[in-house]
Amino acid sequence: VKRFAVIGHPVAHSLSPRIHAAFGKQTGIALEYTTIDAEPEQFDVRLAEFAAEGGVGANVTLPHKGRAAAFCTSLTERARRAGAVNTLIRTGTGWEGDNTDGVGLVRDLTERHGLDLRERRTLLLGAGGAARGVAPALLDAGIGDLFIINRTPERADALADALAQPGRVHPRYFSDIASIGTFDLIVNATSATRDAKLPTLPVALAGPRTAAVDLSYGEVAIPFLAWARAAGAHDCIDGLGMLVEQAAESFQRWHNVRPETDAVYAAILAGHD
Ligand code: ATR
Repeated sequence: VKRFAVIGHPVAHSLSPRIHAAFGKQTGIALEYTTIDAEPEQFDVRLAEFAAEGGVGANVTLPHKGRAAAFCTSLTERARRAGAVNTLIRTGTGWEGDNTDGVGLVRDLTERHGLDLRERRTLLLGAGGAARGVAPALLDAGIGDLFIINRTPERADALADALAQPGRVHPRYFSDIASIGTFDLIVNATSATRDAKLPTLPVALAGPRTAAVDLSYGEVAIPFLAWARAAGAHDCIDGLGMLVEQAAESFQRWHNVRPETDAVYAAILAGHD
């Protein structure tokens, strides 16, 4: 049986083991998928232990996505652009790093939720690992201008620079937020609501056509999505669908089979509170 794991901190409540078990059952592929709780400074050691125990693939979650990118012996183009890794593939010489978050988000928004992303004026809140993971895929999906606001402005500037599309990508300050207009897509990629400290957002950011997306799910996504609903957004979407889609993309990298996600999404949604 091939061994997989998700490495993060905290990681005990990760839904990834359930999702990958369901994909394995659906496709008839035998696999073991566990969780590895590793504090930031333990990432390298725990991953080496996992490899020594026969681990052939892993997902990487908070707070290790940036460290994983530095640790890998090779990166896919999309992981390199993101500067963040959520999927590890064991090779003869070490680990290849991939990032399936962006493609997972775009697939969830366009296919599950039926959104046309093209030309959407987009606001990305946050410039950490989660934001870096999804920004390139959003640009590739044909969104319009992308505005990036981050608590630490230097990180918004750095992400905008890395995206290398100066005519289209605009870093802004939180202090500008009252005067930057209305957006067709607003993505919360901050971890602020994990500490229940979402910065105040003006309702004028959202209009009747706006889709608001929180990359988290469950309780953590509630404050931002409640704001979006109150602000009149048309679609209020949490990150559960993205989670299932990024998992499917990782599964395909490991097993060369694309699992069907709708039934697994429905089961996770039903069993998740
Ligand atoms: P992740 O992988 O979830 O993106 P991260 O790399 O630590 O984790 O990034 C967290 C993001 O949430 C950052 O954009 C962070 O802003 P800073 O770059 O200024 O740290 C943002 N964030 C976290 N807590 C926040 C808060 N209370 N208010 C606003 N932004 C916050």
